[in-house]
Amino acid sequence: MESGERQPFDLRDEPLEEAGRRAADLFVEINRGLEQRRVAPAVERGALLGQFEGTLGDEGVGLLKTLEEFRDKVLTASMGTPHPLYLGLVNSSPMPGAALADLLVSSLNNNGGAFHQSPAMTACETEVVRSFVRLFELPATAEGMILPGGTWATLQGLVLARARAIGRRAPGPGLRIYTSDASHFSVARSAFVVGIGEDDVVSLPTIGRGELDVRLLADAIAHDRRAGKTPLAVVATAGTTGTGAVDRIADIADICQSNSLWLHVDACYGGAIALVPELRDMIAGVGGADSIAVDPHKWFFIPVTAAMLLVREAGLAARYFDTAHGSYIPGDGEVDAWRRGIPTTRRSSGFTVWAGIRAHGWRTIRDAVRRNIDLTRLLERLLGERGFVVLPDGKLSIACARWEPANVAGEASDRLQEEIVRRVVATGRAWFSVVRHGGRIWMRFNMVNLYTREKHIRELAELLRETAREVG
Ligand SMILES: Cc1ncc(COP(=O)(O)O)c(C=O)c1O
Repeated sequence: MESGERQPFDLRDEPLEEAGRRAADLFVEINRGLEQRRVAPAVERGALLGQFEGTLGDEGVGLLKTLEEFRDKVLTASMGTPHPLYLGLVNSSPMPGAALADLLVSSLNNNGGAFHQSPAMTACETEVVRSFVRLFELPATAEGMILPGGTWATLQGLVLARARAIGRRAPGPGLRIYTSDASHFSVARSAFVVGIGEDDVVSLPTIGRGELDVRLLADAIAHDRRAGKTPLAVVATAGTTGTGAVDRIADIADICQSNSLWLHVDACYGGAIALVPELRDMIAGVGGADSIAVDPHKWFFIPVTAAMLLVREAGLAARYFDTAHGSYIPGDGEVDAWRRGIPTTRRSSGFTVWAGIRAHGWRTIRDAVRRNIDLTRLLERLLGERGFVVLPDGKLSIACARWEPANVAGEASDRLQEEIVRRVVATGRAWFSVVRHGGRIWMRFNMVNLYTREKHIRELAELLRETAREVG
């Protein structure tokens, strides 16, 4: 090699030890310093985008400088998702054991698509799936896999529903899916990708806080049959995103069974209540589902992204997804994940889930779920005492409230809720959002957090009272 010529990339030249120590320090700083930082950073989109524009050059700046920039420019402009008063978009505080595991997953970079590419991590994922199959009382033969999001899990579930009904044929018009008008938008999006027309996603009205009105379901199916449509599947929700309502899964399962329809349960948010004996009744019947979407990256405190699809019928997924005969990927006789799902290459996030639960135990999750629910009820009570209107019958960890001064109504009162949210978020002391429910805008507080305690909730209630007085 001529002198002056650049050496190829070589780990021996990299300051791995120092970078590892600094990364570990950052991990500690992020976790220990949670409450010292703002929840939402005070950033302006244009300015922030400008800061990063043109930062990718032919020459790298090195590991240490990049970590320094993380500390100065990224951490300071990041959402404090794990903060005790981030009461936001069903994003959780990850268990440290799982967060650390993600660094190891990336470093090993085993492709979770096949056992021979990720032997130990696939074994961990298998144990995770087995545990969730048991948790949801599916038959021991049920299958499952980690996917990049609940949206993907529902998509893959509906692909299988379609495949079982019509094989690999393209769907014609009139193939129908039933869900509630409070279900997550990922249901309609998945239906769209699956080839089911907008008009064929039947969005049934809800009652109470947002449970599907089961009385209407059987009638809707019978009516559609008479009209020459082809009912395919029902998507029930165990924990709606807006208000935390839980559909009556056992009743829906009965209707699906008597009509030979696929039952997909979206347990992405609420699935963790299966861990809590006194709450399990709320999702009675879930074991009768054909598929279940559940998000370890929500109320199981695993970092994003780790979602899961569980499928009751063994072998069904391989029958339809295994399209790669004669592929470049060696087989060993086992039906690996790449042959029974949409993804080919997969991050080994099953290990992340396993490591989080292995390190901290199911009890950490169960206790946090209970605590989140209790504190959410406390928040409702404190807000009620401070003159807010609180949406009744809350069961999970979502509280909805409105500030309704006598002289403000209609649209103006909706704007008032948004203004309160805006002002509180601007303080950097809490983050939450609004949701439309029953035709009105409500403030929505969603607790999916290991660290929220009573003192935080009392602080938030006071902050809300002060802000409401200011604006109203
Ligand atoms: C009930 C429910 N289903 C599905 C989803 C979508 O899941 P993901 O964001 O993991 O794709 C969400 C997200 O919040 C949800 O709350």
